[in-house]
Amino acid sequence: MQETLVPVLEQAGVVPVIVIDNVSDALPLAQALVEGGLNVLEVTLRTEAALAAVEEIAKHLPDAHVGTGTVLNAGDIRRSVDAGATFMVSPGATDALLDAAADVSVPMLPGAANPSDVMRLLERGYGYQKFFPAEAAGGVPMLKSIGGPLGQVKFCPTGGIGPKNAMDYLNLSNVVCVGGSWMAAPKLVAEKNWAEITRLAKEASQLKG
Ligand code: 3PG
Repeated sequence: MQETLVPVLEQAGVVPVIVIDNVSDALPLAQALVEGGLNVLEVTLRTEAALAAVEEIAKHLPDAHVGTGTVLNAGDIRRSVDAGATFMVSPGATDALLDAAADVSVPMLPGAANPSDVMRLLERGYGYQKFFPAEAAGGVPMLKSIGGPLGQVKFCPTGGIGPKNAMDYLNLSNVVCVGGSWMAAPKLVAEKNWAEITRLAKEASQLKG
């Protein structure tokens, strides 16, 4: 069920977590990120413009893998699929969400914050999980500890990650990629500072080597 997502995450390194207020910003922002070497993009469903932004990116930027984030329920899943998302990310997981995810072919990266969360998702077949909120939930030491008994699970930690600590996560054997909003910060988007976004994306894309 996550087969198509695994290679995407493996090559991603860093996944920009994007909040879009204006649909007109979607393409230039996505282009700036792709130009910087980041082509796996998570557009959070936190704004009115989010789904239209996903549609725009999916339609016009075939080099990008665009997915939805902040997917909280069955309705978000349906809307993500309809908009053309190629993956979905949720900050946590509920039975209703996972049941709905099992009915669609677009893969899901569900969120876990502790060993019990991780085990429950593993029971449902999720070998790849988002670790959220990464820094607040124990950060690198927590992930290292989870990797002992649950070493078969790979994570994409997100939440509080930036250029200063991204490498500490990427160096862990159970981390496949990291997510973060720093290279697409709302202020940079509001200023339409695409050049700076590309520069930060380039820096981020080089982290994984
Ligand atoms: C989020 O859902 O907002 C992401 O986890 C991004 O977190 P960040 O803004 O701390 O990178």
